[in-house]
Amino acid sequence: MDHSLNKIPTIKLANLPTPLEEAPRLADKIDLSKLFIKRDDLTGLAGGGNKARKLEYDFAEIIDGGHDVIITAGGIQSNHARMTASAARKLGVDVKLVLGGPDFEIPKGNLLLNVMFGAEVRYLVDDDANDHLTLEMEKWADELSGKGQKPFIIPIGGSTGLGALGYVMAMNELAEQFGKDKVQIIMGVGSCGTFAGAILGTKIFMPKARVIGISVSRKVKDIKKRTAEIIYESAKLIEYKINVDDLSIECYDDYFTEYGMITEEGEKAIYDCANLEGILLDPIYTGKVMAGLMDLTRKSIIDKNIPVIFIHTGGMPIIFSFESELGNKLNCTKIYPKF
Ligand SMILES: Cc1ncc(COP(=O)(O)O)c(C=O)c1O
Repeated sequence: MDHSLNKIPTIKLANLPTPLEEAPRLADKIDLSKLFIKRDDLTGLAGGGNKARKLEYDFAEIIDGGHDVIITAGGIQSNHARMTASAARKLGVDVKLVLGGPDFEIPKGNLLLNVMFGAEVRYLVDDDANDHLTLEMEKWADELSGKGQKPFIIPIGGSTGLGALGYVMAMNELAEQFGKDKVQIIMGVGSCGTFAGAILGTKIFMPKARVIGISVSRKVKDIKKRTAEIIYESAKLIEYKINVDDLSIECYDDYFTEYGMITEEGEKAIYDCANLEGILLDPIYTGKVMAGLMDLTRKSIIDKNIPVIFIHTGGMPIIFSFESELGNKLNCTKIYPKF
């Protein structure tokens, strides 16, 4: 054993292992020999998603440190914020959220779920710049400390070296389900923790895997820099010797326009996945990743003869904030009963 991953404390929050399911009709449509979907949308915490794995590490530290209130931040439809709120309530801790982005009238999707969890929200209207959100979290933490509380800040997206260990462990789980053969693993990249964890995890547990990231918000250069930093932090925590310069970080930034906006190709991919496999993707993250998979296969950048594993990182509640964009496809004949 050349790492100490098993020595890092966790607290159980997610339903693991998540299933690895074959998607034969979607594979045919994309022209892939084999396509599997890793159902991390089924991790639990009020709608599932990748963040549950990261939170298992963060909350071990939070509970151990005796913190009584969590502060985290994200965009208005942040899955991370919703899952953190759910985890906090599951463990009896208070929760405060700093959210940002386009102003809203009524809470929908993840924001509505945050209402259910009684999370207090401070909202940066029309602004979701990471450094502004972080500053606001720090201000709030100072206020709470001044009142005698013991706050803990989980950075945006939970993307720290510690949180990313959730995806190092996920690759161990995947190796047990799939084996160690050649495979192409594709996933969304936002704050880079999931991607970083997957790259480090495959290096350890699935060394023949090629990991491909699809950006939902950042340019390639920024992703490579941030991902390498997190990989390095995670590797240090588990005492795994790695030369970050040796790691190839492969990612694409061609499949989003602006963070949070639906794209035409992403929307088509959502319908294909739902119609062919009965699986729901979302407009901000996973729909774009599926659109990327389709395009990269068309361009032969993804090898159609090598199996692909699509990491379904969740995001389903977001669908319920896009009813005007997605709902207008309703195929419905209204009948006015005259019985
Ligand atoms: C559904 C979904 N997929 C992918 C991601 C990207 O994960 P990360 O922020 O770790 O890069 C997120 C992040 O919020 C997400 O909610």
